[in-house]
Amino acid sequence: MCGIFAYLNYNVGRERRYILEVLLNGLRRLEYRGYDSSGIAIDSDTSSVMQSKSKPYDTAPPVVFRQEGKIESLVSSVYTEVDQLNLDLEKPFLVHAGIAHTRWATHGVPAPRNSHPQSSGEFDEFLVVHNGIITNYEVLKQTLVRHGFTFESDTDTEVIPKLAKFVFDKARDGEGGVTFSQVVMEVMRQLEGAYALIFKSPHYPNELIACKRGSTLLLGVNELGGETSRHLFHDVKALTANDKPKELFFSSDLCAIVEHTKNYAAIEDDEIVHIKDGSVSILKFNYEKEKPASVQRALSVLEMEVEQIKKGDFDHFMKKEIHEQPDSLTTSMRGRLKDGVVGLGGLKDHMRTIRRSRRIIFIGCGTSYHAALAARPIMEELTDIPVTMEIASDMLDRKALIFKEDTAVFVSQSGETADTLLALEYALQHGALCVGVTNTVGSTLARKTHCGVHINAGCEIGVASTKAYTCQIVVMVMMALAIGSDKMSTLAQREAIIAGLTKLPEKVHDVLKLDGEMKALAQSLIDEQSLLMFGRGNNYATALEGALKVKEVALMHSEGMLAGEMKHGPLALVDEYLPIIVIATRDDSFSKQQSVIQQLHARKGRLIVMCSEGDASLVCPDGRSRVIEVPRVVDCLQPIINIIPMQLLAYHLTVLRGYNVDQPRNLAKSVTTQ
Ligand code: AGP
Repeated sequence: MCGIFAYLNYNVGRERRYILEVLLNGLRRLEYRGYDSSGIAIDSDTSSVMQSKSKPYDTAPPVVFRQEGKIESLVSSVYTEVDQLNLDLEKPFLVHAGIAHTRWATHGVPAPRNSHPQSSGEFDEFLVVHNGIITNYEVLKQTLVRHGFTFESDTDTEVIPKLAKFVFDKARDGEGGVTFSQVVMEVMRQLEGAYALIFKSPHYPNELIACKRGSTLLLGVNELGGETSRHLFHDVKALTANDKPKELFFSSDLCAIVEHTKNYAAIEDDEIVHIKDGSVSILKFNYEKEKPASVQRALSVLEMEVEQIKKGDFDHFMKKEIHEQPDSLTTSMRGRLKDGVVGLGGLKDHMRTIRRSRRIIFIGCGTSYHAALAARPIMEELTDIPVTMEIASDMLDRKALIFKEDTAVFVSQSGETADTLLALEYALQHGALCVGVTNTVGSTLARKTHCGVHINAGCEIGVASTKAYTCQIVVMVMMALAIGSDKMSTLAQREAIIAGLTKLPEKVHDVLKLDGEMKALAQSLIDEQSLLMFGRGNNYATALEGALKVKEVALMHSEGMLAGEMKHGPLALVDEYLPIIVIATRDDSFSKQQSVIQQLHARKGRLIVMCSEGDASLVCPDGRSRVIEVPRVVDCLQPIINIIPMQLLAYHLTVLRGYNVDQPRNLAKSVTTQ
């Protein structure tokens, strides 16, 4: 749930100010992952800090800056402290290794002492930034305390640098030296849990080590003065066999790397990446073996534009991402709809198995779960395979039954959500075919599933998922079309859906014109305590997702409900004050929704009705309710159109209520803890 970042410049002069800005900017890009505290570590001048103290190394001691709050509070405290320490911001470094972290607190309140980099203690002999959770930290802590270590933070992370120092000191007391990667490998041997870690140490100046198990870790390579070589790199100096000037980056997310380079490698579980003398080696850790194997890996080219990670003319990422939907949907469908046929390369080899499945299980959390719920009716209709729904955490809690004849479809924007990944492990153990639907190339979900489809929505930075939701639905509708493409009985229906998909971006463009109307609606709801949304059929998911958007960003209580359940309890809440949004666009459920509206009217309900264009008089004959008219599309795509006014409503409510749109209270974009 945190963001880690590192920057190492080699054989290229960079002033300290520049290095600081690269690190701080990396954190700005990762801030969506956690924003309650942050920190960085850079090198001081050998002459300026702690000269009087007898430090256990000859090199410049690191300087660690940690701050509670948003990245901008770290930025101001860094420059104040730099002044106090008399650090020369213009001092150039031909080689320098810096690390950075932005935090979403799990162990210990947001406070400088709980922020990362966490330290081995006096002289900062080992510094670590960590994304993930160390589950056996208490046992490790007790052992380290017995060996004389004192702990300053409440974090699980602090055991890691202390363990590194313990290993280092022990090895140094013996014969011969110990390399940085040997130290880290021994630390890894002791750690349980999920993590991506970056280590910095004055014992190994200008080196960096990163390793991972479970959490995402990416390496970016920018060779300056010429093309980056695409050859494999391994334990010899192959990445850069010469002393080419270069910049190397570690990050939890490609969006912090894209403005520097498009050449990257996704690091796999149990790999240790060691940067030394400008060369990169990747080693594979193995519990059984003393010596790690060296790994060969080619660099991939990132298909992402820098514009994607910038707000452009928009005030907030959420607004930008809502308005990007005509384009993101186009990209999601690009190359996949040809001559009336859906082609999903990622599923091709597994299509026979999917068609023979006993059932399809959709698994996800939050918005991703809602996207699957929206696609469920069409998946069942076109494939004739029963589709069941599982919220990942609940599936794990229940140890739900899953069989090898099942196809389990895992839906996750980030591809990093802990609950979803654990459910994936569970499904893999039970022999089900596991299919991934994710926005994140190289994510754990993408790597661990048997096959899958990328939604290609582009980088989504606002914590509230918007464009990923609509692209997930489109991808799952395309999956339904592809799986059901062997059935003659649904040919006409499939052709109509494909025609609908082709026109969808244009219709989304039209519905976005409701922006002003949604702002006015938000204005009228600004002081409300609560909001209900009723939907059914294809749009049950719209009600759940619309309500989630409102509660997560506008911090207003909001519940999405199945309209069919209204009379079984929720009707008691209805009075002339509580605002209720009823989704009553045209589809099979339309007449049932008309009755719901009548029943609500009969109880003097304060209604806001969403209907298809031209239907206002049918849903609101007395003209008393507020009506939102949206373009009509084929039934299975209607949830994509209908969610957009709800996204706009949530956005405007948030701005008008004065809350943070892109980084709502207590949340983070990807939930990498259980
Ligand atoms: C979406 O607005 C939420 N922030 C949240 O529900 C999210 O969809 C959920 O945490 C799952 O994330 P994922 O899609 O990255 O797995």
